[in-house]
Amino acid sequence: MIISLVRQHPRLALALGLVGVLVASGVVLGIFFGSRALAAPPQPLVFQHSKHIAAGANCLFCHPGVQTGAVAGLPSLAKCMGCHVAVQPKDPRDQPDIDRLIKQWGSRQPIQWVKVFEKPDFVHFNHRPHIAKGVACESCHGDLSQMGYAKPYNLNMGFCLDCHKKQAPEKVARLIDCATCHY
Ligand code: HEC
Ligand code: HEC
Ligand code: HEC
Ligand code: HEC
Ligand code: HEC
Repeated sequence: MIISLVRQHPRLALALGLVGVLVASGVVLGIFFGSRALAAPPQPLVFQHSKHIAAGANCLFCHPGVQTGAVAGLPSLAKCMGCHVAVQPKDPRDQPDIDRLIKQWGSRQPIQWVKVFEKPDFVHFNHRPHIAKGVACESCHGDLSQMGYAKPYNLNMGFCLDCHKKQAPEKVARLIDCATCHY
């Protein structure tokens, strides 16, 4: 179908070729620039945010610390097993991943997830005021519903300040004060 169309319209071949080149270079550039900033570190067990969020699990169920303080926290294996004693994966090919989870649980060794976000020690950050004001997880961590493992984002000072400058005028002075984030 495309071939006969191209025979009738030679310029279409050129256009299709151009699209192909653009798509291919887009993919290459995406891999080249994207992977440095966005690759998730290797983790000890399979865990896909996308499948859990699609199944209706809430961020706060697994990361409840964001409401009360600085540290979001990660779920224990006991929390995983709270569902996985009963839950079966939709795709049977995922069963080996669940089997490894069950085996790890049986070993009674806590799981050591590799940290994704590494904030320097001289920066003070607290989840609580952000969550209290309704700042979405997504604005700092990206759209986890489209990710397997969490991916690192570049949470640099300019990024923090850009949003702080947009807050209510009477609060901006405090929110951009060096001592608010550094002490
Ligand atoms: C709130 C319930 C719930 C909790 C808690 C939960 N899961 Fe799941 N999990 C599910 C559901 C539902 C599925 C099936 C989703 C699907 O197959 O699309 C699933 C699927 C999986 C799978 C198979 C899909 C894949 O990617 O291979 C693995 C592995 C898994 N979960 C690991 C974990 C781990 C590790 C934890 C703890 C950090 C955990 N789960 C916590 C509900 C839960
Ligand atoms: C204003 C930006 C911002 C928002 C909004 C935000 N986070 Fe974070 N989050 C961070 C930063 C910065 C760190 C690194 C903190 C550190 O290294 O101590 C972090 C770390 C984390 C961590 C890993 C370390 C820890 O604290 O246990 C998890 C999990 C997490 N966030 C989950 C969430 C969830 C879930 C939400 C939404 C309910 C959320 N975050 C909203 C900026 C944000
Ligand atoms: C079923 C439990 C579960 C749910 C629901 C869940 N997470 Fe996670 N989250 C995990 C586990 C396990 C890890 C550690 C593996 C990884 O880094 O992906 C993690 C890691 C993270 C990290 C990186 C932590 C670090 O080391 O810096 C962030 C950020 C995060 N989650 C945000 C979210 C947000 C935002 C949501 C909701 C959109 C969410 N999570 C929903 C279990 C969950
Ligand atoms: C998307 C917007 C947004 C981003 C990005 C953001 N913040 Fe905030 N931040 C807020 C809001 C909103 C508040 C609460 C202001 C209020 O209380 O009205 C806040 C409050 C704070 C506070 C508490 C200030 C106080 O009242 O003492 C600290 C500390 C803070 N942010 C640090 C950070 C750091 C560090 C980063 C970058 C890693 C960051 N924020 C990124 C919106 C943001
Ligand atoms: C809203 C939070 C916030 C405020 C306010 C803030 N910073 Fe930062 N600052 C950060 C974060 C996050 C980093 C670490 C990431 C980075 O290096 O960009 C940082 C890093 C730095 C660094 C190290 C830079 C480097 O390249 O290693 C210096 C120096 C610094 N800040 C000075 C200041 C000064 C001076 C002020 C006041 C004018 C200030 N900061 C206000 C969040 C903040």
